[in-house]
Amino acid sequence: MTTAEAPPPTSERTNKFGIDWAPGTLESSDAIISVRHLRKWFQVGNTILGFGTKHWLKAVDDVSFDIERGKTIGLVGESGCGKTTTLKVLLGLETPTEGTIYFEGQDVATLTKAGRKEFRTSIQAVFQDPWSSLNPRMRVNSIVAEPLEIATTMTRGQIRTRVGELLTEVGLNSYQGNLYPHEFSGGQRQRIGIARALALNPKIITLDEPVSALDVSIRAQIMNLLVDLQEEHGLAYLMVAHNLATVRYMCHRTAVMYLGVVQEMGDTESIFRKPTHLYTNALLSAALPSHPDIEREEIILPGEVVSPVDPPPGDVFMTRTPLPVDPDHEYAKSRPPLTEIEPDHWVTVTPWSTIDAANEQGIDLALSVDEEIESGSFEGGGR
Ligand SMILES: Nc1ncnc2c1ncn2[C@@H]1O[C@H](COP(=O)(O)OP(=O)(O)OP(=O)(O)O)[C@@H](O)[C@H]1O
Ligand SMILES: [Mg+2]
Repeated sequence: MTTAEAPPPTSERTNKFGIDWAPGTLESSDAIISVRHLRKWFQVGNTILGFGTKHWLKAVDDVSFDIERGKTIGLVGESGCGKTTTLKVLLGLETPTEGTIYFEGQDVATLTKAGRKEFRTSIQAVFQDPWSSLNPRMRVNSIVAEPLEIATTMTRGQIRTRVGELLTEVGLNSYQGNLYPHEFSGGQRQRIGIARALALNPKIITLDEPVSALDVSIRAQIMNLLVDLQEEHGLAYLMVAHNLATVRYMCHRTAVMYLGVVQEMGDTESIFRKPTHLYTNALLSAALPSHPDIEREEIILPGEVVSPVDPPPGDVFMTRTPLPVDPDHEYAKSRPPLTEIEPDHWVTVTPWSTIDAANEQGIDLALSVDEEIESGSFEGGGR
């Protein structure tokens, strides 16, 4: 009889590129981008000539995840928890304070000029509001052609052909390229944004609330288009959404953020079926029921949303938990790590942060959402 080998210690675990593994990341992933211990702190408050106190707004504070080929990872959490900042760092619109971003195994900070250009081309963005992201004075042909004109040596004729193909691919007619953005519906404008993002054949597209500005009736069409494009091109998406039904539909893996820190992450179905962190449960309970007859009691977390400026060094969730906190506990003083509670399901486990801890302490949080999730009738829906 052979005994199973013990897993290597954390410090020796790496993914296929030899990149350090971190809790919540994938060892055997087909990662195009690996983010490790990313921090983005903004200095806030007044310092004059170095005098005065420096304060740090910790928008993203030690976040690690992988973006896998052909897969979608979702970022959820209440307003201000650092979702857009994470995307901006990846898009090169903000510089990280700390941490490493690997592109196909290479630290992007060490890429050559050509490598950096390839990285920038490989990651494109679709924004929430197609109104403000499309130049109203440009015809659609020019809007979609712009990245090709800037980043390629294609001839005018080649660009014209490619723009026509792109418009057709996103479900528009090529003749519509002569129109201006205001001559389209909201859903069609988002299609134009998607065509532009696709122009340079990216490997990854960031989607920051891609359907929330759209009429409910056309959200599904745009989500289906994104899923079809993903399957066809093996695209990877990093998606931010408040609407949990959208997340469940689109995302293979999901990370739940609170105050710049990931509290629960992993396989989306596992998280929706067995939400373990109290914060995840509160988010799910605040989503609209799938049917008006379903009664769901919302879990209201006590305390105010804490400011991300100079957060305490311990668990950031500590001040929002309905459970008692022992101020001498190590996690009241230092950040708790993510723990794998079942395969690819990671949670920050402390005596005050999980449903199990509440149950053990006999504290009933009225989690009526549980039954709905069990029966599969939960659909989510933002407020
Ligand atoms: N350039 C900046 N300077 C200072 N603080 C900033 C800057 N950009 C973002 N922040 C702060 O960082 C935190 C995270 O912001 P971010 O936009 O990432 O949140 P979000 O999760 O995308 O929220 P929402 O759901 O409202 O879009 C917020 O407290 C925000 O005020
Ligand atoms: Mg945002």
